[in-house]
Amino acid sequence: MNETTTDLPVSPTHPKKVLIKTFGCQMNVADTDRMLALLAERGMEPTEEAKEADLIVINGCSVRDKAVHKAVSYLGEQRILKKTAADPNGDNVGRTGPIIALGGCVGQLDKGEIFKRAPYLDFVFGPDAIDQLPELVHRAERGQRHFVQVEFDKTLAYSTQTKVVGSKAQAFVNIMKGCDKYCTYCIVPFTRGREKSRTIHEVLDDVAGLVAKGVREITLLGQNVNSFGKGNPNTHEFQPKELHNIIGKVGPRAGEENFPQLLYAIENDPRMEKLKLIRFTSSHPLDFSDELIACYAPKEQGGVSKLARQLHLPVQSGSNRVLSKMGRHHQIENYIAQMKRLKELCPDVSLSTDLIVGFPTETEEEFLETVKLLDVIQYDNIYAFAYSPRPGTRAAKMEDDVPDEVKNRRLNQLLQHQLKIAETTYASRVGQSMDVLVEGMAKNQNMLKQGTDATRETGRVWTGRTSCNRVVNFIDTSARNYIGQFLRVKITGSTSLSLTGELIHDPNFAESGVLQ
Ligand code: SAM
Ligand code: SF4
Ligand code: F3S
Repeated sequence: MNETTTDLPVSPTHPKKVLIKTFGCQMNVADTDRMLALLAERGMEPTEEAKEADLIVINGCSVRDKAVHKAVSYLGEQRILKKTAADPNGDNVGRTGPIIALGGCVGQLDKGEIFKRAPYLDFVFGPDAIDQLPELVHRAERGQRHFVQVEFDKTLAYSTQTKVVGSKAQAFVNIMKGCDKYCTYCIVPFTRGREKSRTIHEVLDDVAGLVAKGVREITLLGQNVNSFGKGNPNTHEFQPKELHNIIGKVGPRAGEENFPQLLYAIENDPRMEKLKLIRFTSSHPLDFSDELIACYAPKEQGGVSKLARQLHLPVQSGSNRVLSKMGRHHQIENYIAQMKRLKELCPDVSLSTDLIVGFPTETEEEFLETVKLLDVIQYDNIYAFAYSPRPGTRAAKMEDDVPDEVKNRRLNQLLQHQLKIAETTYASRVGQSMDVLVEGMAKNQNMLKQGTDATRETGRVWTGRTSCNRVVNFIDTSARNYIGQFLRVKITGSTSLSLTGELIHDPNFAESGVLQ
């Protein structure tokens, strides 16, 4: 386990403002939250302004070439902050300017090579060194430069406590880390190391602590949460103890803890009374178990009532030949059968997925199988990407033979097709009432222009999400702050990306409403 270093001195010269620039997935977003919380324990405050920052951390993502490029260009832009009259290149900066660190999956892979190109960078660290960040900053403050901390944590157990800054209604909770799947295209097993899970008891205590602080919605995080519990002896009382799916027995094994057990344990823990919603991301179809599907059933039929009616289950391709080359170890028929079963148990479930187009040797016909899959499943949302070879992966040894123009055309075609599907599914919600967890004021307040004079004068557009993860915007003219409240909203309009609605006023609803 990585120890935090909160006992380090807070020196007068210690940087007071930190800017963390985050790229990549929810893992990195959660890691940034943790870094900010650890640094706050040393008196550092977050800032959005690079010019006023004493410490700049770039939390980079290496999943695709473009993502790496974004992090490295951002790093390049910070060079100017280290330049002085005596050192116009910023090559020998000593303590001039902010401390600059490169972390996340980009830091893990780079291992310090980048110092040659970016001498103004102070240190590099990987995701397993996050808890050491205050200590690393302290080393940089004492004048050490160009050091690297990318050792994977070698201990078998994974133990951590979620840290949140301030009061929030939503929290990410890491339940496992790493990935053992080694899909042929993917860099993540190399950046995040081997799978390790926290224990059910530790996660329960952690979530109970968050609920006591006001958290009402949690997202359980891991690259493949369906592998949760692998290696943890099963001493817990909650069933089931062995997992299966259409392909056969799936991991973790009997005698080990598992993900459905964790969901039931959270649902049944009396300390979670005020917790409204449990989300999770991501899982892999190979380990997606019947027992997890059963958690989506109505409570009377043994389901987990707090489980959001939403599932993000990456499929990557609609073609069995491409899936096999991707090393996904499941067939598209299995996936479709799993989704069918899920929809039977939970007809309102909202589905999303990840897709890659232009994988080596993907033909036009195989791409069209992926397009067809969208019609079959009827996703609410997809995350689609053009294949990007990642050095060191098995797919990188295959010829990247689909030209960029073809990849981009396929990507656009897929996204356009999905927009049409989403337009229809979203429009079918108009007229329904839904419960919405309000996240904050919408960035775009244009909806006010369509309202009455009173609305335009005093109205504000709020935004939130339903249990099935649909974005809902609504106008309210009162001065009330709805952040973190569950409110009932009547849906009055839709686009292919979001819903609009009218607030149904019910002063008692916030703590007593039944979730939609
Ligand atoms: N663990 C999750 C899973 O198994 O789906 C997330 C993996 S990754 C962080 C998020 C998505 O990026 C993947 O699902 C995949 O669609 C995409 N991706 C990963 N490697 C890629 C690559 N080399 N080129 C293009 N997209 C990639
Ligand atoms: Fe990457 Fe596959 Fe692991 Fe997901 S399951 S992180 S796509 S190797
Ligand atoms: Fe990127 Fe690392 Fe996440 S490579 S997608 S930040 S696990």
